[in-house]
This record gives sequence, structure tokens and C-alpha cells, in this order.
Amino acid sequence: MSVPTITLNTGRTIPQLGFGVFQIDPADTVAAVTTALEIGYRHIDTAEMYGNEREVGEAIRRSGIPREEIFVTSKLNNGFHRPEDAEREFADTLDALGLEQIDLFLIHWPLPTRYDGDFVATWRTMASFADDGRAASVGVSNFQPAHLARIIDETGVIPAVNQVEVHPYFGNEAVRAADAAHGIATEAWSPIAQGKVLGDPVIEEIATAHGKSTAQVTLRWHLERGDIVFPKSVTPDRIRENAEIFDFSLTPDEVAAISALDRGEEGRTGPNPDEFDYVPR
Ligand SMILES: NC(=O)c1ccc[n+]([C@@H]2O[C@H](COP(=O)([O-])OP(=O)(O)OC[C@H]3O[C@@H](n4cnc5c(N)ncnc54)[C@H](OP(=O)(O)O)[C@@H]3O)[C@@H](O)[C@H]2O)c1
Repeated sequence: MSVPTITLNTGRTIPQLGFGVFQIDPADTVAAVTTALEIGYRHIDTAEMYGNEREVGEAIRRSGIPREEIFVTSKLNNGFHRPEDAEREFADTLDALGLEQIDLFLIHWPLPTRYDGDFVATWRTMASFADDGRAASVGVSNFQPAHLARIIDETGVIPAVNQVEVHPYFGNEAVRAADAAHGIATEAWSPIAQGKVLGDPVIEEIATAHGKSTAQVTLRWHLERGDIVFPKSVTPDRIRENAEIFDFSLTPDEVAAISALDRGEEGRTGPNPDEFDYVPR
């Protein structure tokens, strides 16, 4: 499996296709990640809040694949934005994964209504993890254009990526444009909208034309727009299917037809980052 890479603004490269482990039970995580690595995925997206970092690390070690061949991302728990807490949590993430260096570490949510709205101090702390070498790259997730502008203005440090909800029903174009303007790579979470776009007639017609599934066409659409994706599945056949997207391409008209399915804010399936304030107890 030959997966294209994107070069981040840190000079590091990231495989454009990865494997997401949100909502994979820790008890099922070693098996799912092992299947993904056997199929050829070399990029795993986890988070402290997913509760399965330890199992991701275990699957990587058991695979015997050299560490440098696998790109690993994790994210700061919403409960630990204060600099001293972030420092401790990051050390715990490295420990759980069993890694000395992580490829990418993200602020999971900006939480603008928490911590006195001070996600800038959190970002400064994240930047220190890159400075001391424990994170090859650092970035953010669920940051709106105003959040990006603020951290860049106040720290001068540009995130390597912004991981946000993007799929055919939620193009998130303003955020993607802001990312591009700053030289930030966009990562598209819930790339198939957790299955909600898979019965769409426009996508079905394109899929039939290519002899591909609607999931494969949707993932291919993301790749052709230049975004990074990491579909999640615990089903081996689907894990394989989601990786078989490098033997066909969409025409510009097909890409445009899928982009035209965008429903704006109504298409959002997850929380609005301007309002989301969840902190685990
Ligand atoms: N930063 C954030 O705030 C954030 C938020 C959400 C997600 N993410 C990241 O993005 C990753 C992907 O997003 P997601 O997990 O929300 O959703 P997703 O990848 O869009 O969809 C996953 C769902 O679709 C099903 N599925 C997967 N492949 C399929 C296929 N080929 N055909 C039919 N159904 C299929 C899976 O079922 P089975 O597992 O039962 O096969 C699962 O229910 C996450 O795992 C996580 O790494 C990040």
C-alpha cells in the first residue's frame, strides 16, 4: 500500500491516510490497530480522552514495525489545559504509548469558555514540547479561524495541523481556508460522518461509476482536496476497504459534486468548538 504523504510546516511528513481509534473500546484496540498495521496503515490517531493510548502503544510494539515507520498522534485531555497539568498529562501520554517522542500532539479542543478563555497559555506549553524534542510536531484540533489567529498572533508559533470535522455534509470551508492561509495542514475528522453520508445518492452514483464503495469515494474526495484522513473501524473488511483508495481518482466535476453536498452548520455532526466545554470529571 503506497500512501501519499503531506509535508507539514515543521518539515515532517505525515501519511495522508491513517487509522482513527475514537470509540474503540480499549479491549478491542490492540486487535483493531494490529489489523490496520498488517493492512499497511502507518499512521494512528488517538487521544488521551479515548482511553486507549496504552493499547495503541502495545499494538505498535507487538507489530515489530520500526518505530520511525509509524506516525503517531495524540491529544491533550480537555481537563488539563493549565500549563502544569498539560505538562504532566503529556508525560503520561508518552508513558502510556511507550514512546520517547510522539510525531504529533494536539490541543484536542480550544474550550474558549473554560480556563478564562486562555488557550494561548496552553498553546505556549504545547510549543515547549516541540522545543524540547518530545513532540516532533504540535498542532491543534477544533480551532476556529479566530482561535488560530489569536494563538499565532500572541505566540508566533504556527500549528502544524488543525484537526476538524470535515465530510461531504460539512465542508468546514472557512476553517480549511484559514488553515491554508496560515500554512497549516487540515485533518478531517469523522471523514465519512460516522456513516451518515454513505447512502447519499450523489455519492452512490459516483461510486457505481468507479466500481467502488461510497466510503471509498468519500475518502478519495478528501484526499483530492488535500486533507488528511483517518477513518475508524473495528471491522477488518472495512479497515481494508478504507485503505483501497489509491487505485482510482475522481474527476474535478465529481469532486465538485460531492463538495456541493455541504449543508453548512446544519451538516455538523459533532459539537460547535465555539461552545463546546466538556471537561471529563
Ligand atoms: N479531534 C476530534 O475532536 C475528533 C472527533 C471525532 C473523531 N476524531 C478522529 O477521527 C477519526 C475518525 O472519525 P470517527 O471515528 O468519528 O468517524 P468515521 O471514521 O467517519 O466513521 C466511523 C464509523 O463508520 C463505520 N465505518 C467505517 N468504515 C466503514 C465502511 N467502509 N463502510 C461502512 N461503515 C464504515 C464504523 O463502524 P465499525 O467500527 O463498526 O466498522 C464507525 O461506526 C476518529 O477515530 C478519531 O481518530 C477526532
